[in-house]
Amino acid sequence: MLIKKGAEAELYRGRWMEREVIIKRRIAKPYRNPDLDRYIRTTRTSLEAKSLANARTLGVPTPIVYDVNLDEAEIIMSYIPGPPLKNVLPNLNDRKLKELFIEVGRLVGILHKGGIVHGDLTTSNMLLQDDRIFFIDFGLSEYTCDIEARGVDIHLMRRALESSHYLYSELAYESFILGYKEIMKEEAIDILKRVEEIRKRGRYVGRHS
Ligand SMILES: Nc1ncnc2c1ncn2[C@@H]1O[C@H](COP(=O)(O)OP(=O)(O)OP(=O)(O)O)[C@@H](O)[C@H]1O
Ligand SMILES: [Mg+2]
Repeated sequence: MLIKKGAEAELYRGRWMEREVIIKRRIAKPYRNPDLDRYIRTTRTSLEAKSLANARTLGVPTPIVYDVNLDEAEIIMSYIPGPPLKNVLPNLNDRKLKELFIEVGRLVGILHKGGIVHGDLTTSNMLLQDDRIFFIDFGLSEYTCDIEARGVDIHLMRRALESSHYLYSELAYESFILGYKEIMKEEAIDILKRVEEIRKRGRYVGRHS
C-alpha cells in the first residue's frame, strides 16, 4: 500500500517475510540525465541504508534495515508504528516538550559524536514510538566531524522548528541544547557558537536578497 509519494521517493507499507515493513523506493526523475539519475538514486539509497544501520549501532533508534535492492533503489526496513514528532508537538505540555527535545539533543549528540551528520533534521524525520524517538531519512547524511557541518545540521533543525512550530521553537531549542551538551561536553561550545554565526550569515543574506 502506497503511503507517501514525495519529491524523491515512494513509500509503501506492507509485509515482507512475515514482518511489517516500509519499502522506500527512490523514483527516477525524467528531467535528469538517466545515468546521473541512476547514480544519485543508487548512492543515496546505499548511504541511507548504511547510516540507518550505523546510527543504530551508536545507540540511536532507527528502523532495522532488512534488505537493500540497489537496482530498484529500494530499502526494506521495519515499520515504526508511531507518529512523526511534527504531529504530536501541538498536543504536548511544556514539561513533555522539554523532555522530548532534551532527548532529541542527546540523540543528535550521539550521532555527531559518532561522526554522522544527519543532513535533514526535521520533526517529520523523527517518529515517536512509546517515548522512544526514531530517526529516519538519512539519504543526505554525511560522515564528518567538521564544526561547520555539525553547525549546519543544527541550524537547519532550528530553522525547521521555527517555521513548523514557532509557538514553542524556543523552548524546544533550549531543551535540545541541554541534551546535546550532555553528550558532546566541551565540544558543544564551538559548535553552538558556529550555529549562531551561521544564523547571522543567514539573516544578512535574507536582508539583502
Ligand atoms: N520505517 C518507517 N516506519 C514508519 N513510517 C515511516 C518509516 N519510514 C518513513 N515513514 C513515513 O514516511 C514519511 C517519509 O519518509 P522519509 O522521510 O524517509 O522520505 P522522504 O521522501 O525523504 O520524505 P520527505 O521528503 O517528506 O522528507 C515519514 O515522514 C514517515 O511518516
Ligand atoms: Mg522525510
